Amino acid sequence: MSRIRILPEAVANKIAAGEVVERPASVVKELLENSLDAGANSIRIETEVGGKRMIRVIDDGHGMAHDDALLAFERHATSKLRSADDLLSISTLGFRGEALPTIAAVSRLLLETRDANEAEGTRVEFAGGKLVNVKSAGLAPGTTISVADLFYCVPARRKFLKSDTTELGHIASLVTHYALANPGKQFVLTTPTQEIVNCPPVEKLADRVYQLFGKQALDELVEIPSVSAAFRAAITEPEMESGEESATLTVSGFTSRPEIQRPNRNGIYVFVNRRLVRDRLILHAIHEAYRNILPGNVFPATLLFLEMPYDEVDVNVHPAKIEVRFRRSQFVHDFARDAIRQALMSTRPIASFAADRQFRGSGHRQYRAQSCCTAGELRSRIYRWRRKFRRAAYGDPSS
Ligand SMILES: Nc1ncnc2c1ncn2[C@@H]1O[C@H](COP(=O)(O)OP(=O)(O)O)[C@@H](O)[C@H]1O
Ligand SMILES: [Mg+2]
Repeated sequence: MSRIRILPEAVANKIAAGEVVERPASVVKELLENSLDAGANSIRIETEVGGKRMIRVIDDGHGMAHDDALLAFERHATSKLRSADDLLSISTLGFRGEALPTIAAVSRLLLETRDANEAEGTRVEFAGGKLVNVKSAGLAPGTTISVADLFYCVPARRKFLKSDTTELGHIASLVTHYALANPGKQFVLTTPTQEIVNCPPVEKLADRVYQLFGKQALDELVEIPSVSAAFRAAITEPEMESGEESATLTVSGFTSRPEIQRPNRNGIYVFVNRRLVRDRLILHAIHEAYRNILPGNVFPATLLFLEMPYDEVDVNVHPAKIEVRFRRSQFVHDFARDAIRQALMSTRPIASFAADRQFRGSGHRQYRAQSCCTAGELRSRIYRWRRKFRRAAYGDPSS
């Protein structure tokens, strides 16, 4: 008897959901990306109980015609890709055709959509991956997707979810990132009792930073002016001759002043062609830019935008599309590092003193100097250390 069998579609979708839908914020990410791909100018996200009970994303994008509304829930059904060649130059945020069927497989999902060219809209309902209801409905153009009771049919996954506040925090951070990447669009994020984000369209990134984080944050940041260069294999290679056909890399954004220190990397957001990514190479470039400016164990806050032709970066390397691979990674790394470094150098001279030393092991007392202090403060700090050291070593109470 044959041991191998092809899994039913519903099981395959639940397996895919393991990769694509980790938590409520992953659902928000996929829905938000769909809304942006649909050309929406205004996106509203409503959540309940940290997104566990309800996530509703309402957009004013191009919507879907009746047949497409059903087709969208088939595995690998997408309007964004036609052939394998298209994979080499993806300009949309989505392309895998996986999100809707996988989210529908692990929740109760209601899609309400209307293509502006159609007289009527469509309402489609799924529960645990099964189609429950389809009907025509009078709707405004655009799309609303409501995802209720996430993981209700996969209790094992539900157990991995964190507290409502933590899950809401992940959603808020995600919406914030996408709002930063799209200053010209309106983003609203609500809970039944709070409006967490509400930013109307603005012209400049600086205005969006102000809307989201306030004046103080803006004061703590230095602008990385937009700089471009023709791609080379490495920054040490000769520059392209003028007129020579070449793809260009553009870097821009904001980065924190040298005196700002963060205990972790949570303030670092990297976007490649407006896609939020987690990339070790770029994190390393940021770290390098702050070499000798920040101690090794603290981090800056950085908002970095890299723009490049779509065929210079492979986005098809991670199911949730958060990792990318650059074709000429050394050049991207060095160019990003230098752009940040240049921006930091153009601020007023670094008056503060950043020191962080840890002496561990035999005989040495461990101490960590607080960074950023004036010469006077430093002197009195050294004096205090000396006193402490003498007291510890010789038990000298008078010193
Ligand atoms: N908010 C939306 N507005 C218009 N069309 C949408 C929206 N969300 C999804 N779609 C359509 O449904 C298709 C399937 O979506 P999805 O499963 O996320 O796959 P992908 O985004 O990778 O194509 C999309 O290609 C798009 O045509
Ligand atoms: Mg998608």
